[in-house]
Amino acid sequence: MIPERMIDEIRQSTDIVDVVSDYVRLQPSGQRFKALSPFTQEKTPSFIVSPDRQMYKCFSSGKGGNVFTFVMEMEKVTFPEAVEMLAKRAGIDTGKYRTERPRQDEKRESAQFDTLRWAARLFHSTLESEAGGAALAYLTGKRGLEPGTIRRFGLGFAPESWDYLLHAAERDRAPIEQLVSLGLLTRHPKRNTLYDTFRNRVIFPIFTVGGQVAGFGGRTLASDAETPKYINSPESASFEKSKLLYGMHAAKNEIRRRETAILVEGYMDVIAMHQAGFPNTVASCGTALTRYQAKILKRYTSRVLFLYDGDNAGKKSMLAGIDILLAEGLTPWVVMLPGAEDPDSFIRNYGKEAFLGELESEKSSFQDFQLRCYQEAGWMESPDTASKAISAMTRSIALIADPVQKELYLDELAKKLDLGRQTLREVMATSDTGRGTREPRQRRDEPAPQPPARQAPLSVTERTFLEALLESTFYGNEVLAFAASHESMFHLENPAAQAIFGHLVTRFREMSDRDGHIDITSEISSIGMEEAGNLAFDILFRLPVNETTRPTPAEIEQHARRCLSHFLVAVKTLVLEPLQKEKESINAQLQCATAAHEQERLSRALLEHIKHTRAMEQEVDESIRGILGE
Ligand code: CTP
Ligand code: MN
Repeated sequence: MIPERMIDEIRQSTDIVDVVSDYVRLQPSGQRFKALSPFTQEKTPSFIVSPDRQMYKCFSSGKGGNVFTFVMEMEKVTFPEAVEMLAKRAGIDTGKYRTERPRQDEKRESAQFDTLRWAARLFHSTLESEAGGAALAYLTGKRGLEPGTIRRFGLGFAPESWDYLLHAAERDRAPIEQLVSLGLLTRHPKRNTLYDTFRNRVIFPIFTVGGQVAGFGGRTLASDAETPKYINSPESASFEKSKLLYGMHAAKNEIRRRETAILVEGYMDVIAMHQAGFPNTVASCGTALTRYQAKILKRYTSRVLFLYDGDNAGKKSMLAGIDILLAEGLTPWVVMLPGAEDPDSFIRNYGKEAFLGELESEKSSFQDFQLRCYQEAGWMESPDTASKAISAMTRSIALIADPVQKELYLDELAKKLDLGRQTLREVMATSDTGRGTREPRQRRDEPAPQPPARQAPLSVTERTFLEALLESTFYGNEVLAFAASHESMFHLENPAAQAIFGHLVTRFREMSDRDGHIDITSEISSIGMEEAGNLAFDILFRLPVNETTRPTPAEIEQHARRCLSHFLVAVKTLVLEPLQKEKESINAQLQCATAAHEQERLSRALLEHIKHTRAMEQEVDESIRGILGE
């Protein structure tokens, strides 16, 4: 847990307008500021920052939040990382809060990162020491890496020894058991002794988006056939290759700036590309591209250029990757390299200029690439295989969510194939309905996309209820207190509304000081449901801004009262509306009932219900009178 006091101090010494200005050009607009949204590629500014509420809202993506969520979103970091960055920015020494005891699992996690960093430093200094001579010569000579590049990616070397890391760990008092669980040391199954996992290998530290070492890849310097070329840290809860993109920490800002991410296959490809002037390059670490990775990319750009190896395996991976990207709303492009070159070898063999030329002349749309693959494989020559290829291509189009784009791609394909658009649409309809036919695309380790649940839309009453509840927190906790003690009386149909309400009530109950101040934007940011967070920010943002920045106690009192009465009216409706509906339903049944005993039963039920409704109405009215002091 990050100490509440530390977050408070950061909040108080940070101005959201200031922080946002680091990323986008803000223009004053009334009491607020306006900019082109950093989250979308919009042409008219819909990103608003409110200095008095210390909030932002992006009206084109619906995202809203406070300074912490803004940094999380822009830098793609976790909450603790954002806190750390903002503390640094504000010049706050977070060390003084460190004495507060962290939770057990957080302690373990941060210790794990410490150990990983220790190992990364050891490998790196080894590469630059005498023991790393041959490895360094390999990297700078044979692989053409500059010293700056080696440093930027923190490359290292694990010597050909069974106990190099083991001895270093004993010397530096690094936790041995942790090194075992991180896979850097291996336990011999029979002899029960420990030995180094990475031996005679160039080490590639794999970083989180925030720049912490999460694991390692190691490439052997040996050239025999038995030694595997690459080994990696074992998968664990804190190191899942399917959720990481190699090079992201170094590429993220350039991806945003250049509005394109280049996707390659290998560690060396990323490094060679960065060195050659393409710092917007990342790799999926030898796994097939996953939806998770596509989602990460989506945060920075909507365009992805595939630059996989030119061999058959590379082509297959790109074909699969195209669908993954389309399904996440990204636009894939493809460059096919000649022969079996990968970007690293191409740049080394032919130079940067030739590579740039290749990028320009060989870049094709995903559709052209698909067609070319099927043509080269001979599928387009006979009707039975051609029809398979065409249905695969229309399936890709069906994945596109944007209806206009979908239509345009369908148009294009019809032209390219010289087929009727209607025919293609029919193919698409049949291949799309049989969702089962798409099964092979779904990887087992990813959850199947859920059909959107049918959700009750936000009703007018629910909106009023939330408006009053949220606004009231600026003026005290009276409304929250009432809500917490009457929670069971009513239910909000809209799931996002219910999530906001439930969260605030829970948080209020958890507060040690019930009269203390609730920082509503932080509370909203920590609601688990994204939709709920966005709705809450949207409501807060639409509230009228107070004319006076520093209201008098009397004015505060007046605002508080207004919120409370709005809230209570909404509560009354929320309680009584469903009761009223139920009454109508019983009544309707009564009208239709023919059997005498049925009629009797329903009449009694109706009477009971009316009594119950009246009692509830009285209870609510009494509470309202009591609380409003009338
Ligand atoms: N990879 C892996 N584990 C393996 C094989 C490959 O993690 N057993 C990943 C690595 O990230 C590697 C990428 O897949 O960089 C591509 O593999 P490959 O094309 O075989 O290697 P290159 O990156 O081309 O390596 P090099 O140029 O050094 O031969
Ligand atoms: Mn290679």
